[in-house]
Amino acid sequence: MSLSSTKSIASLQEEASSTDSRSLRRVLTATNLTMLGIGAIIGAGIFVLTGTAAATNAGPAIPLSFVFAFFACLFAGVCYAEFASMIPIAGSAYTYAYATLGEFIAWIIGWDLILEYLFGAATVAVGWSGHLIDFLNGVGVRLPAAFTAAPLTWNPVTHTIDRVPGGVINLPAVLLVVAMSTLLVIGIKESASFNNVIVVVKVAIVLLVIGFGSMYVNSANWHPFIPQNTGEFGQFGWSGVIRGAAVVFFAYIGFDAVSTAAQEAKNPQRDLPIGMLGSLAICTVLYILMSLVMTGLVSYTKLNVPAPVVVALGAAPQLLWLRVFTDVGAILGLASVVLVMLMGQPRVFYSMARDGLLPPVFGKVHPRFKTPYVTTIVTGSVAAAVAAFFPIGLLGQLVSIGTLLAFVIVCAGVWVLRVRSPEIHRPFKVAFVPLVPILGIISCVGLMTFLPGDTWLRLIVWMAIGLAIYFFYSRSHSTLGNPGPGAGTAGD
Ligand code: ALA
Repeated sequence: MSLSSTKSIASLQEEASSTDSRSLRRVLTATNLTMLGIGAIIGAGIFVLTGTAAATNAGPAIPLSFVFAFFACLFAGVCYAEFASMIPIAGSAYTYAYATLGEFIAWIIGWDLILEYLFGAATVAVGWSGHLIDFLNGVGVRLPAAFTAAPLTWNPVTHTIDRVPGGVINLPAVLLVVAMSTLLVIGIKESASFNNVIVVVKVAIVLLVIGFGSMYVNSANWHPFIPQNTGEFGQFGWSGVIRGAAVVFFAYIGFDAVSTAAQEAKNPQRDLPIGMLGSLAICTVLYILMSLVMTGLVSYTKLNVPAPVVVALGAAPQLLWLRVFTDVGAILGLASVVLVMLMGQPRVFYSMARDGLLPPVFGKVHPRFKTPYVTTIVTGSVAAAVAAFFPIGLLGQLVSIGTLLAFVIVCAGVWVLRVRSPEIHRPFKVAFVPLVPILGIISCVGLMTFLPGDTWLRLIVWMAIGLAIYFFYSRSHSTLGNPGPGAGTAGD
């Protein structure tokens, strides 16, 4: 079998509609899916990175960085929507690549999605733990230092892994991952309901900050809107705006996770595009308004801090009551991001196992809960261990670069399938193909080039490990290469 063998769309559509014992439960509505998207999107990006990117890259023009990053996500998002409506399979980008670019690229993308979902969950869980610890300190509760920090940390200045004095384990992060994984094992409906509640609260808090904050904006803080380029690391000027877009891209990560719930959606053809694009649109509006308010309240130079929203609110004494809401918003917001990331990863593994690229046990569905419980437990355990002990700063932008790579491949896949199989019915169709996929590829690769060389190196090392696993295990176990009962049909 060649590396470019593809799974046929017909066999994938059959798999999507099958109702055997390995099927998931179809209970999610368009509202649930949109809420899952918002749950995954609003998190560390808006509560932390907006400040960093404004202070060090874009200045008050940070809303423009959000607009640039939005367009990259929009081009990729419509391509995701076309695939998700046509092949509503939990494997998401991995499955889309299997149907278009072949098994090898599918494996690469499946392996790459681990960066987005599993490492993304671990990274955000550590951020969540930091917010919780700050919040508890604020109300006089001090947790023992040994249980609030991993033993190792990444030093970005010396590029070394250093010992954290007194750090043993990041227990709050572990407990969050365990709690979210348990919920995900119990049921997708239960997880979605929990996420709905969090999303309502966090969006309400973001709206409060925007609404009350806008009353105290000092427009002098927006001048100059695009500060002069300092020439150092491309801060400010238009290059700073674009560099800022690469930083805040993280804030958009997650809308694509909605597509991994494809086999649990009641009406995936219609509702997946609504869920992904609806959540993307809502969050973009919130991000632009929030970043305008933050840079209007205080000078952007003051925002390079772990809690920039709190600093911005500090500009007016009348806004101080919002501080506690902001802390709660960040804590809840980051928790739902972890939930949805931990939802996405097991579903990609589940699809890979059903294709034989991972051991069959990963394809097991819980007889009562109808969730992919084995992969959920494995994902949760690995994410908890990473969050507990590892120098998470090392992963930082790896999550963004991994996601951007997935976006590039999905855009390319839409174009390839339009050329190869124009006749297939597409419930949601991207307009102006190949222009939109090409713009998606250019904008995502463009954002990738603004990420640091270190991040690229780690991506390459990660991919090299993935290739080794593919050639030693997956290739020889693939159901496409070794057809047995239930295998999909191959086409070259
Ligand atoms: N978009 C998610 C966040 O900002 C990953 O936390």
